[in-house]
Amino acid sequence: MNVIMGTLGISKYNIITIEQVDSTNKYALENFSTFDDKTVIFTKDQTMGRGRYNRKWVCDDSENLYASIILKPQNTEDFPFANLTQYLSTIICKCLKNEFKINAEIKWPNDILINGYKISGILAESKMQNGKITGIILGFGININLKQETLDKIDQKATSLSVLLDKTFNPENILNLICDEFFKNYDDFINEGFKFIKSEYLANCNFLGKKITIKESDKKNEYFALSIDDDGLLIVKNEIDEECRIITGDIYVK
Ligand code: BTN
Repeated sequence: MNVIMGTLGISKYNIITIEQVDSTNKYALENFSTFDDKTVIFTKDQTMGRGRYNRKWVCDDSENLYASIILKPQNTEDFPFANLTQYLSTIICKCLKNEFKINAEIKWPNDILINGYKISGILAESKMQNGKITGIILGFGININLKQETLDKIDQKATSLSVLLDKTFNPENILNLICDEFFKNYDDFINEGFKFIKSEYLANCNFLGKKITIKESDKKNEYFALSIDDDGLLIVKNEIDEECRIITGDIYVK
């Protein structure tokens, strides 16, 4: 196990690198009590990655980025738990745009797409004790070197950096960029919540002003996407022109 200490400003964080693991989220949850706040579990080889709604997060024999950020806030009362994935999606978008000059966009609440093809996903899981949240595991995967033949087996449109840009990349360098950026403004985000990222998040959204479908229970409902409110909820208009707010779900953009 390789432990690296990030030393950016006052927001120090640790990266623990594991050669191979079933799921960085599962590992972080199972060993939660042994880690400090702001510890990042990282692997390039994750064998049983999990996604939202019990989906699988695919890997192959190429080196990719699978990581889980462990957060143990001291004050959980006003902590913006619900917006953490949106904060991370804004950071990933920014790093991909700046570093690789690609048009990364957010599909609410936190998928990252390039030209409609998913390149990154985020899964937050909470650690509970006596009915209270004691911490959050913020897992994210980025398709860095995933091969086209692997992408073809995924049940939604997906891409990777190497397919897009026709070369291989070092996942560690990209992880460092993202962690530095994540912790740089982390305290401001905790204090202000979604409002801190709202304008940047909105600028990255690829579905506002469009017809969307949302899967709710077993039904797919049609909406028109209007905006995002100050709490990060999606504001839509339904088929009879009523405005509603969506808390969570999977959206499909037409
Ligand atoms: C999704 O889009 O459904 C979320 C995917 C999250 C995948 C990451 S990879 C690292 C971390 N460990 C897991 O098992 N899942 C998350």
